[in-house]
Amino acid sequence: MPCKNLKIVCFSPTRTTRRILDAIAEGIGAEQLEVIDVTRSDRVPESCECAGDDLVIIGAPVYSGRIPLTAVERFKALKSCGTPVVPVVVYGNRAYEDALMELTDLASEAGFKPFGGAAFIGEHSFSTEKTPIAVSRPDKDDLGKAREFGRFIAAKLAAGDISGVDIPGDRPYKERSPKASASPISNDDCQLCGACERVCPTAAIAVGSLVETDPDKCIFCCACVKVCAFDARKLEVPRLLEVSQWLADNFSECREPETFI
Ligand SMILES: Cc1cc2nc3c(=O)[nH]c(=O)nc-3n(C[C@H](O)[C@H](O)[C@H](O)COP(=O)(O)O)c2cc1C
Ligand code: SF4
Ligand code: SF4
Repeated sequence: MPCKNLKIVCFSPTRTTRRILDAIAEGIGAEQLEVIDVTRSDRVPESCECAGDDLVIIGAPVYSGRIPLTAVERFKALKSCGTPVVPVVVYGNRAYEDALMELTDLASEAGFKPFGGAAFIGEHSFSTEKTPIAVSRPDKDDLGKAREFGRFIAAKLAAGDISGVDIPGDRPYKERSPKASASPISNDDCQLCGACERVCPTAAIAVGSLVETDPDKCIFCCACVKVCAFDARKLEVPRLLEVSQWLADNFSECREPETFI
């Protein structure tokens, strides 16, 4: 069966996951494309049904070897009776550990039929000029591989083959680390433009006569840091600065995308 209706479902604070999913969709070349982007809290649908003749590509970044809890909660609106799905994770060149298995399990539990999967690489959320990690990924080659993966998905579906594949990972999944109460902060270069407030996936930021951030809501996604055109927003949490340095020192060798189909 050729793919008529393709749905992209994604959570992607710094847009690397979204760019990979868009390239996969291009490779699939469906007649109709619908994007359900749940990155912002005000865009989460109350329910979302997928039909058997749809195809869904679901994607999320890897946070500490897992799918971010915020994404897991938002994906809960999804329901299906056997819609073929391809889960995709994007990680910052360290490791994706149990994340692809977790996303695959989540899709199965919602009634989807996983028949492939992939792990791609995106610039690390914590990457800065001082601690560069997977800078500018996904690059041209990554996006080419994503389009090629899309063509493989379309061919498998056209052959009527939606058999499952082995996905790497362990159960029980790696334990989540407790969330620290902290966040990036805005410095004196801030122009109060509001861009950081608009991209924050957890509505943690309020821009008025100053920028206020709720540290309990912050998930350290760094969307606010990357969007600031005035270089005024920094993640200066000591523990995370140490982690960024460790990542830059130890994970500079480029990893390659892995696809399972
Ligand atoms: C809190 C947090 C934890 C992360 N943990 C990992 C990890 O375990 N392994 C890894 O390689 N990258 C990790 N990353 C990097 C992201 O997976 C990577 O930058 C991804 O491309 C971000 O996706 P997005 O652009 O869709 O937000 C982490 C990022 C954040 C913010
Ligand atoms: S995006 Fe930057 S300049 Fe704009 S309000 Fe946020 S910190 Fe200030
Ligand atoms: S305040 Fe926290 S959750 Fe919001 S965009 Fe910035 S890093 Fe992400």
